[in-house]
Amino acid sequence: PLISMRQLLDYAAENQFGMPAFNVNNMEQVHAIMQAADETDSPVIMQGSAGARAYAGETFLRHLILAALEAYPHIPIVMHQDHGTSPAVCLRSIQSGFSSVMMDGSLLDNGKTPSSYEYNVDVTRRVVEMAHAGGVSVEGELGCLGSLETGEAGEEDGIGAEGKLDMDQLLTDPEQAADFVKLTQVDALAIAIGTSHGAYKFTKKPTGEVLRIDRIKEIHQRIPNTHLVMHGSSSVPQDWLAIINNFGGDMGQTYGVPVEEIVEGIKHGVRKVNIDTDLRMASTGSIRRHLHENAANFDPRKFLKEATKGMKEICKARYEAFGCSGHG
Ligand code: G3H
Ligand code: 13P
Ligand code: NA
Ligand code: ZN
Repeated sequence: PLISMRQLLDYAAENQFGMPAFNVNNMEQVHAIMQAADETDSPVIMQGSAGARAYAGETFLRHLILAALEAYPHIPIVMHQDHGTSPAVCLRSIQSGFSSVMMDGSLLDNGKTPSSYEYNVDVTRRVVEMAHAGGVSVEGELGCLGSLETGEAGEEDGIGAEGKLDMDQLLTDPEQAADFVKLTQVDALAIAIGTSHGAYKFTKKPTGEVLRIDRIKEIHQRIPNTHLVMHGSSSVPQDWLAIINNFGGDMGQTYGVPVEEIVEGIKHGVRKVNIDTDLRMASTGSIRRHLHENAANFDPRKFLKEATKGMKEICKARYEAFGCSGHG
């Protein structure tokens, strides 16, 4: 069944687990996420970005998720709109049947310029008012995602601040978070605690803590009833990076967020963990390897099936590590 984010994350909080929220753009991703959820007995969050809507078309994207609901009637699914850049974008998703939307008011509606706090409160509060009237959940964002080392936002093509960010933008302030939740009534809050979008998060192999777990704890203590969300939470699997580069790819050396740190975050109030890059890497690595080893193949189903298999392994690993398996 289709459920709201609030329903799922309230249940996750009661049962002390976290949910991966996977970005979807095509059928193979939806297959991978659903097969993995079915095999591990996990609930599902699928989210569509503006990039996904531009790629697949809003109708196709929505119907891919609706197809999953029909094919797996026993699995609870949240259909979430990722990074809405304005109340209008969120309203369209609410009208078309999404059960959850993100109003990312941390940036202006160009998706690039950091906004004022007052702007963020205003747009987010307006979306909550519309969404809650229809039983739809809302995720807000306070703080700007970016590298704590360089102040760079990361992601070039997607959502992300342009230019350098200051430390006070890169870390969500617990007191401001409490005020923000009081004023907007969001169900879930994306926080800045050291993650960034895309594959190029950390230049050095993480040794010890890369996230500000202390900050997660402080925020959770101030707003215990608001579900915390970690964007930019791909782990950038080194085995997939090697496969991509061994079969003709040319990705730079890079590291992501260790799964153990995400699990630590989940112990302190993180309930939704956004993952896109890891599935992109598993998909690309699987396809490169298949085409290299089967140079005569010209049937896309053969390499796309490999992509599904590669993505499914990641999904299963995250469902298990985050503790949602058995809760489907
Ligand atoms: O928020 C960023 C997600 O990874 C979506 O990326 O806009 O390229 O689909 P995208
Ligand atoms: P990654 O780029 O780390 O996969 O994060 C995705 C994300 O936060 C989507 O909103
Ligand atoms: Na989101
Ligand atoms: Zn994001």
